[in-house]
Amino acid sequence: MTPGRKLMLLVERMSGIVLPDRELQRLTDWAGKRAAICSFKDTSAYVDALRRNPDSDEWRVLLSRVTVKESSLFRAPQQFKCLSENIIPELVDSGRRSLRIWSAGCARGEEPATLAVVLNECLGGTNVRWSVVGTDVDAEALEAARRARFSRRAVRRVPAESLDRHFTTHAGSYELNSEIRRHIEYGLINLVREPLEVPGQPFDVILLRNVLIYFRKESQARVVRSIEQLLAPDGFLLVGPSESLMHVAPGMKAEERNGVFVYRRRHEEESPPEVVANRKSREPQGSATAPKPLPAETTRFESDGGAKDWVAFAVAGRQAEIEEDLRLALRYYRASLYLQPDSYQVRYRLGLCLEGVGWSGRAEAEFRAVLEILRLGSGKTLAIFQGPEFPTRNEIEAACREATQNDAMS
Ligand SMILES: C[S@@+](CC[C@H](N)C(=O)[O-])C[C@H]1O[C@@H](n2cnc3c(N)ncnc32)[C@H](O)[C@@H]1O
Repeated sequence: MTPGRKLMLLVERMSGIVLPDRELQRLTDWAGKRAAICSFKDTSAYVDALRRNPDSDEWRVLLSRVTVKESSLFRAPQQFKCLSENIIPELVDSGRRSLRIWSAGCARGEEPATLAVVLNECLGGTNVRWSVVGTDVDAEALEAARRARFSRRAVRRVPAESLDRHFTTHAGSYELNSEIRRHIEYGLINLVREPLEVPGQPFDVILLRNVLIYFRKESQARVVRSIEQLLAPDGFLLVGPSESLMHVAPGMKAEERNGVFVYRRRHEEESPPEVVANRKSREPQGSATAPKPLPAETTRFESDGGAKDWVAFAVAGRQAEIEEDLRLALRYYRASLYLQPDSYQVRYRLGLCLEGVGWSGRAEAEFRAVLEILRLGSGKTLAIFQGPEFPTRNEIEAACREATQNDAMS
């Protein structure tokens, strides 16, 4: 095995992060340079030293090189709206006099700063105390987080009034005011190290957004199992809007709040949703020229969570789409629509996936159904399908109209 490949595996073992193959050459070149700087004989010796010394300072340099710290304040704003309008009021109504929120994988502090602004605006002037803990595996990112200075781009989604109130400008950067900064603590925590312990645990809310997307399913499951233990029994876990914990978190269940899905701990008497493959497909069988048929058996999803799981299935469908497994996406979207037939966005995505696997007739039927839902005004909107990468309601309507008209003409 080449030293570069060994290093990739080592990074995964240490941090959970799976680097894509296209990174191999760049990582190898980088390791060669580090080997020279640190006076190792060659790259192999450098990699070997990292393997033997998991606590060495060089790991700090390496982890900073391999982590993706893309973030901004108020990223996925619908989740913060849900926090301030739904989750925080509910936690306060439950009788809490203090709230603790953990941003796990906080990058350069964008998420903890956002939480501090939101909490200050929700709880300022009340007698409820609050604190935010931001942790990351990258020590350099944490140093930047402690400085709490953000670029114009990073604050572009902060509402103007909040920006004015809570930040001081310094030549193009925005510094979070010390008055709310003092509620935030930072710590170096590697989420894959066991046992996972975080000062301030248990937390009322944990944000684990856009961190597990770089991990394999097994590591995701391990991290979620550890994190579950650090969440208050009635607490809330939020992952990124296009992430799903389906299959990796049997101890958690998805709930929808204002179109945002959140995870809660499943109590012992509740069993996780089952996936039962027992319904014969009614898809026509393919021929040499016809598009490939869908699998002979489709999956029926049975769940004790009832209507709430439609969101989780929709998210899993989206995840499968991102992973370019359209057949799996079809199954999830169907399961979601089985529980919530009026989700026009899910139905639209189902149509797109059907087109993607070559079933244009079926796709057209879904697009027609979307138009019918929109005509009746019964459509259910999901926040996870909103945002710049998704079409708006009007765009979906126009696309479905066009798709069904074209088909009618041909
Ligand atoms: C893309 S950023 C997400 C930042 C923020 N949560 C958001 O959604 O905007 C991913 C962060 O996860 C951190 N990370 C990756 N692996 C980690 C691990 N094993 N333990 C802790 N943090 C990790 C990275 O250093 C990086 O800062």
